[in-house]
Parts: sequence; C-alpha cells; structure tokens
Amino acid sequence: MLGKTPPMGWNSWNTFTWDINDELIRGIADKFITEGYRDAGYEYIVIDDCWSLKERDSHGKLVADPKKFPKGIKSLADYVHSKGLKLGIYSCTGTHTCAGHPGSLEHEFSDAAQFAEWEIDFLKYDYCFKPRNISGELLYKRMSLALKNCGRDILFSACNWGEDDVYNWAREAGAHMYRSTHDIRDNWESVKGLALSQLDKTAYTGSFCHNDMDMLVVGMHGASNDDFIGKKGGCTDTQYKTHFALWCMMGSPLMIGFDIRKDHQPTKHILLNRDLIAINQDPESRGAYRIKPEPNWFHSNDVFMLVKTLTNGDIALGFFNLSDADREVPLLFWDIGLPFASGISLSLYDCHQHKELGIFRERFAPKVPAHDCVVVRAKFSLDAGV
Ligand code: GAL
Repeated sequence: MLGKTPPMGWNSWNTFTWDINDELIRGIADKFITEGYRDAGYEYIVIDDCWSLKERDSHGKLVADPKKFPKGIKSLADYVHSKGLKLGIYSCTGTHTCAGHPGSLEHEFSDAAQFAEWEIDFLKYDYCFKPRNISGELLYKRMSLALKNCGRDILFSACNWGEDDVYNWAREAGAHMYRSTHDIRDNWESVKGLALSQLDKTAYTGSFCHNDMDMLVVGMHGASNDDFIGKKGGCTDTQYKTHFALWCMMGSPLMIGFDIRKDHQPTKHILLNRDLIAINQDPESRGAYRIKPEPNWFHSNDVFMLVKTLTNGDIALGFFNLSDADREVPLLFWDIGLPFASGISLSLYDCHQHKELGIFRERFAPKVPAHDCVVVRAKFSLDAGV
C-alpha cells in the first residue's frame, strides 16, 4: 500500500531546476545513507522536470537526455534501489512539461509502462500545457489508472497547484498526494503565505491522499539556480525551523529541496528532527485543526495554534507566531476538549528541545519569538492531584 503516511524524500527542482544529471542523483542517494536521511524516514529521490530530450523517439517513447543521464534511467534506479531507496520521475498532464519537454497527454498508458520498465517508484505529474477543453480531473484519473495497472507500485503525486477544485477530486482520482498551492519560493513571505492558505483545508488531507503544500526550501539560503525560486539569501534558520514544523503539523509530504551534499548543521538539525517527523508520520494521518489564541481582539491571523490528534491518544500542539513581533500564545485546554473538571492534566514534551516540560493544568502559554514556533507532544496525565 502506497502513501499511508505523507511521502518523504528529496526532489531536484528547488535547487537545481534544469541542471540535473546522473552524478548528482547518485551523490544525493549516497548522502541519504551517510547523513542519516534514510534512517530518519526519507525514502524517495525524485528527478523533476528537464530529464528528457525535447522530442520522443520514433516509437513515441520518452528518451532520457544522454548528456545528463548517459547510463539511462534504469541504471540509476538500480543504484538508488541498491541503497534501499526509491526513485521518482516527472511528467505532465499536458502536451509539454512546464520547461517544454514532452508531456504525457495521449501517451499515459505507454509512459506508465515505460516508467515501470525503468523500475520507477514515484511519478510527479504536473499541469502545464493542458488543452483548455480537457478536464484536468479526467487526465489525473487516466494516469492513475495507467499507473495502477502498469505492473509496479508507483506512487502518484498530482501537481495541479490547487486549481480546479482539486480538494474535491484528488482522492477519488487516485492521487496519493496532491499539490494544493502554487510554487514555493525561498523566502519567508512565500512559506508563510502557503501555510496560511491551507489552514482551512485540513479536512482534505489524510492517509493515502495527502495535501502537498509543495517541496521544502529548508536550508537553501538562496542557493537555487533559478531567480523565481530565489537567489537572494532565502530565510533565516528560525524561519526554516518554523517552515518545517508547519509542514510536519499540517501533514504535508516532506520533500527536501536543499542540496544535502552540503554540510550545514543547522539545516540537518531541522530536517532530521525525529520528534517532528513522528508527528508528520503518525499512522492515522489526521489533519491538524487551528485554534486562534485568546484574547481574540489582540492577535492577528498569523498567530495561531495547530492541534493534531495522534493515533496513540497523544496530542501534538503547535504554537505558531508568524507575525513580526514576539507573542505569548496561550492555549486553553478547554478548547481541545479537556475540561478542568475531568481532573486530567497534560504532560508536555518539547519537540525541538527534546525534553519534558512538566505537567500543565488548564492552559499552556509559551512565549514565542517572531517567526518562531513551539511544538509539544501532550500526554494525558491523571496524577496531578486534582
Ligand atoms: C511547476 C511545478 C514545480 C516544478 C516545475 C517544473 O509547475 O509546480 O514544482 O515541477 O513545474 O517545471
């Protein structure tokens, strides 16, 4: 079964865009092992747009660019599999991909068969150059059928940027994850905007069909080779920390965009946070709901709490301050269904400091600096002497 919990991995687009090749992907696979990414749960290595030649061959097949991938895709898949990892590739519902390479329109079944032959494990399926009068929903259904019947387990990652009411049909269409937003950029406004845009969409995510808020820019610090994504410094480490925590709490797939061959400890620290990954990978994959802190008149929309019910009865609580000033962010336990009269307190564990914070009754009110967050895992505690 594919996609029970949000897929985790790495994708070439955010940092490298068109500048991809066999050596890069093999190097990334090596680092998955030596730097502990595989052990933390990251699994898929996805080659995004620009991997193929601009024309199909005389049999109508896609051809890997021989300059970029001289050994072919199957050989790369073998290498990635030998590391215990999975390989992903990219195509498009339309006639062309966004960067002008051949798309899979009217080639869905033969392309899926070709991906299976290459032993691909994941397909990201984009939305550019789709004829206006064909329903996108139908085209995703088509590729989903093709993948499900190609003889191989291939995870289906739909990427139509949240358009055409995708929330209402992605699951039915067979997508294991679906992009719900336009492209992320390596700056705080983009990260914040994407998160805020999905706060009222949490009911639409869940096991086997996850709301994909786009790939992570954590750690990139302006390293993209593309102006649109951002070459200007990126975010601060605190902002990246908050970006990762939001994606974990909101159940988004975790696809790294940072060049993990670089040794940058603060970034590794963020991406390998096992307590946050455990929340993201909780087996039931429930969406997180938002609570606005009291007093209501004091806080803007960019200060909020997220609550995620976990399979074992624990509750993940995220206190997010996306505003530009430091804030106290108080949660009344009443608001998550816990009346004081029940005699139940919460024992809180801090998922960034990795330590117990103690037992709290009735409320918890952390002080959260601007653009920062606090995430705790709460357990029921009956021994508070009430
Ligand atoms: C966009 C997509 C990006 C990337 C790019 C490639 O449509 O949202 O994630 O795949 O195309 O051209």
